[in-house]
Amino acid sequence: MGPQPEEVGKLSMLGISRTAVHARSSSHGRNRRNHFQVLVLVTSLATAIYVWLNIIHPLENASTVPLHASEILDRCRSLNVKPTPHRDFYARTESDRYVPGTLPVLISNATIWTGNHDGRESVRGHVLMARGLIKWVGEDASSLARLSKKYRGALDHIDAKGAWLTPGIVDVHSHLAVEPSPGLNGAADGNSVKAPVQPWLRSLDGLNTHDDAYKLAIAGGVTTSLILPGSADAMGGQAFVIKLRPTAERSPTSMLLEPPYNLNSSKTVSNSPPRWRHMKHACGENPSRVFGQTRMDTFWEFRQAYNKAKKIKDSQDTYCTKARAGQWTGLGDFPDDLQWEALVDILRGKVKVQTHCYEAVDLDDFVRLSNEFQFPIAAFHHAHETYLVPDVLKRAYGDKPPASAMFASFARYKRESYRHSEFAPRILHDNGLKVIMKSDHPAIVSRYLMHESQQAHYYGLPSHVAMSAVISTPAEVMGLDHRIGFIREGYDADVVLWDSHPLAIGATPTQVYIDGIPQLKSPYHIHKPKSFQVPPNTPDWDKETKETLEYDGLPPLEPKRLLKNTVVFTNVSNVWQRADHGIATMYTALTGQNGVAVVDSGRVVCTGAQESCLGHFKSKADVTFVDLDGGSISPGLVSFGTNLGLQEIAMEHSTIDGAVTDALTEKVPKIVGGDNAVIRAVDGLQFSTRDSLLAYRAGVTSAITAPLTHGFFSGLSVYFSTGASHKLASGAIVQDIAALHVSLGYSIHASTSTQVGTLRKMLLEPGTGDMGYWFEQVVEGELPLVIDVHSADIIATLLALKEEVENRTGRRIIMTLSGATEAHLLAKEIGEAKVGVIVNPVRPFPYTWERRRILPGPPLSPKSAIAHLLSHNVTVGVGVMGVSGSTEISTWSVRNTRFDIAWAIIEAGGSISTNQALGLASANVEMLLGVKRDVAMESDLVASKGGNLLDFESKVLGIISPRRSQVELL
Ligand SMILES: *[C@@H]1O[C@H](CO)[C@@H](O)[C@H](O)[C@H]1NC(C)=O
Ligand SMILES: *[C@@H]1O[C@H](CO)[C@@H](O)[C@H](O)[C@H]1NC(C)=O
Ligand SMILES: *[C@@H]1O[C@H](CO)[C@@H](O)[C@H](O)[C@H]1NC(C)=O
Repeated sequence: MGPQPEEVGKLSMLGISRTAVHARSSSHGRNRRNHFQVLVLVTSLATAIYVWLNIIHPLENASTVPLHASEILDRCRSLNVKPTPHRDFYARTESDRYVPGTLPVLISNATIWTGNHDGRESVRGHVLMARGLIKWVGEDASSLARLSKKYRGALDHIDAKGAWLTPGIVDVHSHLAVEPSPGLNGAADGNSVKAPVQPWLRSLDGLNTHDDAYKLAIAGGVTTSLILPGSADAMGGQAFVIKLRPTAERSPTSMLLEPPYNLNSSKTVSNSPPRWRHMKHACGENPSRVFGQTRMDTFWEFRQAYNKAKKIKDSQDTYCTKARAGQWTGLGDFPDDLQWEALVDILRGKVKVQTHCYEAVDLDDFVRLSNEFQFPIAAFHHAHETYLVPDVLKRAYGDKPPASAMFASFARYKRESYRHSEFAPRILHDNGLKVIMKSDHPAIVSRYLMHESQQAHYYGLPSHVAMSAVISTPAEVMGLDHRIGFIREGYDADVVLWDSHPLAIGATPTQVYIDGIPQLKSPYHIHKPKSFQVPPNTPDWDKETKETLEYDGLPPLEPKRLLKNTVVFTNVSNVWQRADHGIATMYTALTGQNGVAVVDSGRVVCTGAQESCLGHFKSKADVTFVDLDGGSISPGLVSFGTNLGLQEIAMEHSTIDGAVTDALTEKVPKIVGGDNAVIRAVDGLQFSTRDSLLAYRAGVTSAITAPLTHGFFSGLSVYFSTGASHKLASGAIVQDIAALHVSLGYSIHASTSTQVGTLRKMLLEPGTGDMGYWFEQVVEGELPLVIDVHSADIIATLLALKEEVENRTGRRIIMTLSGATEAHLLAKEIGEAKVGVIVNPVRPFPYTWERRRILPGPPLSPKSAIAHLLSHNVTVGVGVMGVSGSTEISTWSVRNTRFDIAWAIIEAGGSISTNQALGLASANVEMLLGVKRDVAMESDLVASKGGNLLDFESKVLGIISPRRSQVELL
């Protein structure tokens, strides 16, 4: 059952006696409560005297005293009481969310990250949970034995065997349940576009209980989320905190955590201090775009709304001053307005203001607003430029500067996020500002929120801060750190057990408790190596961080040094290189005896112990030595599945190549060839885009990109180098035509049967012109046909179509499925049909109906989709994670390919070797997309320092290019 608003205080006299009783109880937060009690005492005495004088002993103005005078005075009394836990809260022995019948749980021998001491404390010990609360946290064995005995028979005892235990993850920015998955028009309730200012709207009123994402988020360790309205409006409405577990009542209300008492009536006066409320604001592009206005308009709307609220607040204060003085004559009703009461509460310091704000201009505007109307800002969300203007944040109204709730590497999708930096969390922390990592689910799927902290940590945020950033800090910023975000006695029993240290790549919960109730029915565990049980040792990014600030967020990304001479990489642990059908190991150092790799004209000419390679460089006059510190050399990764190379900023049309005209659903201009036109991506390439260069710096040295389509027909893809400065530079275009691409799906404006029918016609009667020529190539098996498709039903139809065409022509088609979220359902058939699959996104999510049947991977299923397809001998390549499979809004994540495949190996639990994993994002992608063998064999190699390319502890140092006969140092 969900918490119920407390009963309304009835008689002020009662208030006095209750206060007297409770004044004796004590624990945390005593000072705040004492304050409150004194206030209650004083105002209650005043009320009592007033009631005595005016009601019990009426004087001459008795006739003007309203009937509900004492209620009105109660209301006046409560106006400026600040939110703080109820005075009984710290003495609670049972959670308001306790589900009777829940078995107490004792977890012993855990490595407990408590959240205490700014996230620095971890202890080896035991945790007892009962009645929805953490009842005991301790290290001593005798207490453990005593408790086991006390609960004998009625206790679930789990030996954690040293595994990490943390509080549940707290997501401060989620649209879970208001933008539920799979996405269907009937339930998209996150944004109202009726007006830019609507502080009266409430996310609770649109909270869908059937979102597929609840159980996925829980599987990632998320236990509590703040559900925000979207950012279409300057004031989008009120946000609500929910716990994600299912409830017996199955209602939105029963999921709420500490909802405000005045949920069902703004007039409700509680006998307790109020609970925190939450308000969503948004500045910048979104409200401007939706309402066709400028930033100037938006801020005038903010000021106008706050001015209105301030007038109401002032009239209430004047009213109450008179009422307290007994001057009822002509006073009328208490001034109130249901539309504006939430804003009035902001001015009274009772609301956590959560503001979507990206750029310096918006941050500065909003900080001025906070000072003009004197309200504190809980956090700036997205906050892409807060790291550039820390002093602006420090100028905000109130005693604590706003926190920054941000993404790790999701950026450059719009102009406002163009200057985002992966070093932003660390820079903010260095400036003494609070950092939160958030999902903006489903932008980043909240199941993977911990990965945001992992990346922030990789780029320099200290581990204790990175942990706090998704657990304790959001709890504090939401005003709920009296019950969630820490492992402490008396706190909510929201606890996660992990299979590794949470900051290690691929960290996965083995069990998640919400209110003491285990949430994973029969979780699948992966055994992790010992090295994953401690936070990774992250690379040194001091120089890059400094440069980022120096260049106002846009540091140059081009390689620093070009070497045409002999380069000797020393202290090398492994060398992998391209082989005919995958990746071959060329060198593995003996333990503790790293070797060298000698590179001449961009080719590795010798690997081994230094002595054995001396002949290759001893006599050379010009040799550069590069220490890899135990690192490795491996094939450069190849990306596919985004609009990389065809755009700079996804949401700025003037920076992107644009979508082709789709011959199936639109009229193609005659001048380009009408229906028979086939567009080539090579004709639209842009070089030196920031996403390309960042990809290059992260070891993704090339990419295959098809023309962007919003319909059925795309065109011919191109294979290009991500590090080239322009199209005519050496090695920029690796292969001008890779494959022919089409998309099939339910979102295209032609029936799926029409789409399949079109494909059948093209394959059986290719016709004339360019279109005929290229489909002929497909039928002849000379050019792969790459089909973007997710639905298992369409995939099955395509497999049958392939057989039908092959039977008729007697030739074999090279068919590759990309996207392929539901392909796992047909793994056997796909394997038998020798059809390849590029899994994109690499970790599945049920964004749409045709992608709803995902194979989620551990802990929800024993295998991941990738491992499952591989076990059926399907040739698998990986795409990127991106955002909702949008080819445009995914180019930022190309750089994360190495983390994505590292994660895929971990998730496969030892069934994928490092060679195979490297192949998933290089050789296989090339094979599936028609890259010629001799071209593939000339692919770039990547030198990484401090580990191999897939290690979370390594850093890419250089690119070795046989094709360009050179080495670049980054
Ligand atoms: C804790 O672990 C130790 C060894 O690691 C083991 O001897 C002991 O039995 C465990 N205790 C409990 C309560 O699980
Ligand atoms: C293709 O030919 C094989 C062998 O003749 C036959 O078994 C199969 O049913 C045919 N498939 C289609 C789709 O026509
Ligand atoms: C996959 O290939 C291997 C080796 O060729 C073979 O032994 C195995 O049976 C195949 N598996 C499936 C599911 O076809």
